[in-house]
Amino acid sequence: MKSRLLTTAATAVLTGLLLSPCASFAADDGGLATLRGAPISANASAAGDALKKAIESAPLDRDFTQQPPLVSHAIDNYPITMKFNKCLDCHSWENYRKEKATKVSQTHFQGLDGKELPNVSPRRYFCVQCHVPQVDAKPLIANTYQRPTNAR
Ligand code: HEC
Ligand code: HEC
Repeated sequence: MKSRLLTTAATAVLTGLLLSPCASFAADDGGLATLRGAPISANASAAGDALKKAIESAPLDRDFTQQPPLVSHAIDNYPITMKFNKCLDCHSWENYRKEKATKVSQTHFQGLDGKELPNVSPRRYFCVQCHVPQVDAKPLIANTYQRPTNAR
């Protein structure tokens, strides 16, 4: 019982310590702060805005052979929910011609056992797990990676 009480007291002190940086921003942000303790409103910088604008272009080059192609357009208004997938409005085999989009490849219809399914496999339903839009940002760290010649 005694040790239980001690633990409770220690937890209370720890919680106090953890919460204290947030508490100091309570007036502006309703107590919300980043993990480093900066108020959330400090994130709304001009640099942050540039990162919100996705590149709209022709299909982007791939950097390695098996790479899921990068999304060459913004996807802000293209929701994917359990019942509805906006991406497939344009990329499905029914609609791709009309929308002038690339059709999802045959691999996307394969179930876990390798059998072909009539629709996009649940493994490939959440497109943005693998396909990501790009922004025009300077790389944080330089690198010397060279695209292999067999990637288009
Ligand atoms: C309004 C129609 C439309 C919607 C909705 C849409 N796309 Fe696209 N997408 C296109 C078109 C058009 C292209 C460009 C095709 C081209 O120029 O060959 C494209 C290109 C792409 C590419 C590049 C293909 C390649 O060959 O490099 C990917 C990946 C992609 N989209 C993924 C997505 C994902 C993921 C979503 C949903 C979050 C989505 N798209 C929603 C129309 C759409
Ligand atoms: C688990 C990862 C993964 C998911 C999820 C996924 N893809 Fe892909 N996608 C890939 C890979 C890898 C490729 C390239 C190899 C291939 O064609 O299978 C690809 C290729 C494509 C291509 C280009 C096909 C071509 O002929 O060049 C399109 C378009 C595409 N995916 C759209 C989608 C859409 C739309 C969804 C959601 C319905 C989706 N993908 C979900 C990994 C994924």
